[in-house]
Amino acid sequence: MLPDTFRTTRLLLRPVVVGDANAIFDTYAQDEEVARYVIWRPHRNREETLAYIERCVATPSTVERTYMLVGNDDHTVRGAFALRRRVPHRLDCGYVLARRWWGQGLMTETLSEVAAWALHQPSIFRIGAVCDVDNIGSARVLEKSGFVREGVLQRWLVHPNISDEPRECYSYARVRR
Ligand SMILES: CC(C)(COP(=O)(O)OP(=O)(O)OC[C@H]1O[C@@H](n2cnc3c(N)ncnc32)[C@H](O)[C@@H]1OP(=O)(O)O)[C@@H](O)C(=O)NCCC(=O)NCCS
Repeated sequence: MLPDTFRTTRLLLRPVVVGDANAIFDTYAQDEEVARYVIWRPHRNREETLAYIERCVATPSTVERTYMLVGNDDHTVRGAFALRRRVPHRLDCGYVLARRWWGQGLMTETLSEVAAWALHQPSIFRIGAVCDVDNIGSARVLEKSGFVREGVLQRWLVHPNISDEPRECYSYARVRR
């Protein structure tokens, strides 16, 4: 099972709900700079945000969970973290933070906590993530969270806000021996 929540020093990770639509749209989903290296296009309206949430909620929580990052102090939405378990022994993840919260160590704090949980589960041996080779901030978060760069995946993902052609991505992972 993927946990219902995670807690870090500054954040609570809890499952996304339909009631988060306005907060997601207003804080990051329409921001072109936030969306630069991700697989989705900036949302043009609240309906697109709602459709995204409905897809998240409809996905079985054994396979994937999308968590909202909310401040422990102010309870407001700061970003999102998706954790996927399509194969039982390994996880992969994706994450996004509203621009006003960048550069304060919040995603490193989050990823480190999730990875520590993952590698304490007897059935999980690997947690991985990929990022565009130009996404220096994300690569840095992964490295600061103890992930090891395994190589470059050629023509791996389309990041539609940069190009319609699939791009090179770094593959990162932490594993349990
Ligand atoms: C990537 C992202 C999650 C980082 O979150 P964050 O909480 O700001 O990250 P942290 O503060 O924990 O660490 C960021 C590190 O990257 C560095 N960094 C960020 N952008 C950088 C850039 N353009 N060039 C060089 N270093 C950069 C920071 O200096 C920091 O490293 P440091 O602590 O050694 O100084 C955030 O920028 C974001 O949401 N980006 C848009 C969505 C995205 O790209 N998601 C990942 C898809 S794979």
